[in-house]
Amino acid sequence: MSDFSEVYRYYTLAKKAEWQVRDLPWDELPPIPESKGSPDKVARRRDIWRSGITQQLQADELAVQMAAQLFALAPHPEAKLYYTTLVQDESRHTEAWLKLTAMVGGTAERDPYLDQLCKMTLEADTLEEKVFQMQVFFERLIIPKFRMIARSSRGTILEDMCNRLAIDDGIHHGSGMAYERVLLQNASKKTKDKLIKAGNRLLPVFVQHELWRPRERAWIGSAMRSADVARLRRELENGIRMAASLGLDVSEVQVPRLAA
Ligand SMILES: [Fe+2]
Ligand SMILES: [Fe+2]
Repeated sequence: MSDFSEVYRYYTLAKKAEWQVRDLPWDELPPIPESKGSPDKVARRRDIWRSGITQQLQADELAVQMAAQLFALAPHPEAKLYYTTLVQDESRHTEAWLKLTAMVGGTAERDPYLDQLCKMTLEADTLEEKVFQMQVFFERLIIPKFRMIARSSRGTILEDMCNRLAIDDGIHHGSGMAYERVLLQNASKKTKDKLIKAGNRLLPVFVQHELWRPRERAWIGSAMRSADVARLRRELENGIRMAASLGLDVSEVQVPRLAA
């Protein structure tokens, strides 16, 4: 059995899970929850949803670029085949977010740290670093966020989308774990050390991204900061566990200090 059979299995899984933007309930459901109350309150709620949608649109736009790069760089046929589905998934996600964004009145503020994280991944030296950062780390961490948004937006197009994206990103993460495992089996100590060093450069920016709040949600940010910090701590521990399970020496990982 080839080492890449698991990566190939994710290709077949991705094909089975494939959906189309036209499958979403565009004409049946409201885009986001409809709130009641004064016009001011309704407008403020709408701004909050709009800024959340903008973050997801931004993340998927960047994911298209990273997926295209992985597709271009992956030398193994099974991985290249799998990446054709990743590129399609991420551009389909972006297409759906763009449609939803138009329905809620356009985009809000961009998260500058997310742009910076993507740039770091695109400029990383090795395929091992890129697969780790995008698929092992980012795509794992986004799944609970989709579940959280879906729970608070029942009966909307947004809920339907988040449920689909949680499944898709589960496949993206699983395939990345499978590919990274094979890549690291054959990687030199130097490559593995570089991966940890790149992780140490990435983590502080990741923390800033996680704790960043746009103007529309600044007031929520301060109220929920301690819950956010606790969640972030768990996420970072989780990331380190995944790295260790891939056979990396995580003793050199520097976890950023998080003030509650
Ligand atoms: Fe995506
Ligand atoms: Fe993804």
